[in-house]
Amino acid sequence: MSTSSPQTTAPDPIRFVGEADGHLVLIDQTKLPVDLVHVECRDVETVWEAIKMLRVRGAPAIGIAAGYGVIVGLQTATEASPEEFEARFHEVVEYLAGSRPTAVNLFWALDRLKATYAAEKAAGKSPAEIHQALLAEARFIHEDDRQVCRAIGRHGSELIQSGNGILTHCNAGGLATADYGTALAVMFTCHDQGKAIHVYVDETRPLLQGSRLTAWELVQREIPATLICDNMAAQVMKEGRVNAVITGADRIAANGDSANKIGTYGVALLAKAHGIPFYIAAPISTFDLTLPNGDGIPIEQRDAVEIIHGMGKQTAPENVQVYNPAFDVTPAELIAGIITEKGVISPVTPENIAQTIGGYHPS
Ligand code: MRU
Repeated sequence: MSTSSPQTTAPDPIRFVGEADGHLVLIDQTKLPVDLVHVECRDVETVWEAIKMLRVRGAPAIGIAAGYGVIVGLQTATEASPEEFEARFHEVVEYLAGSRPTAVNLFWALDRLKATYAAEKAAGKSPAEIHQALLAEARFIHEDDRQVCRAIGRHGSELIQSGNGILTHCNAGGLATADYGTALAVMFTCHDQGKAIHVYVDETRPLLQGSRLTAWELVQREIPATLICDNMAAQVMKEGRVNAVITGADRIAANGDSANKIGTYGVALLAKAHGIPFYIAAPISTFDLTLPNGDGIPIEQRDAVEIIHGMGKQTAPENVQVYNPAFDVTPAELIAGIITEKGVISPVTPENIAQTIGGYHPS
């Protein structure tokens, strides 16, 4: 891994430089908002570490990075026999699939590359040709996400009036996608449309994706925003400042139960108590129709150090017991609508989801 110097302008969060022998460049999100630096990934281990340690994070961004991770992981096998090349492909895919468990976009992207591999192999293509086709697929996933995010922004903007306050949790912005985001895409689109909106940003303990990343993106775009600690959301809602809550999601079951950053479920309950609509904004690739409801969504458990030594500062006794789930599941009945690139699913029912998603199955 190598890092470059701080920069003053925000480039794409994910870039693949060169052809099949090229490398992946990521904004290191753990360093924001203080330093805008990059991680260069020239081997699959560096990509795995970047996903695991949240240097690249957010469901769509993890999927895009994993796609390119397969490309760099195969570079050690380009001179190998077709059998060895295929064995390496499966090894790399399995390895990347073990980086983080909750965001289904990771598995969705890897499944797309598996399908590409199978089609190219069936067509009698050489390892070099298959490598090239896999890169084209990884690039397609990346480019498609840009269009998807803009469509989510357009559909979601129809739910928001000028003068509205919108609360969000975690970071579902440009950093979490190819660019432009999902939940934040709605706010960016409203702002571009000239609607006067005000965004309330939950700090998002323990890793502060709200204060470090969402606040940073909103300040960059000069969108009026107020940062609050997570435990202030109820008060802010009670004061009548919030007209809608919009968050992203990491995995949505067939009935609409939605996993997102830990704390989202609590925010949805607060919104319900205050009569405020709670929306999820997510691409179709975040749905997992193999799961009938949210009970089967794997919830990532993270290291105690992230709470005991939050942001590198010790704030708890070293040997205290810690529970650190990275995500929770908001039940469908608390969700007023799911904003997708194909439109807003509302009410959130299995039938409406199936109708919007069509025949899509992630695996
Ligand atoms: O642990 P993280 O930072 O990867 O969690 C990210 C979230 O929970 C986001 O809200 C979600 O992935 C949607 S990103 C468009």
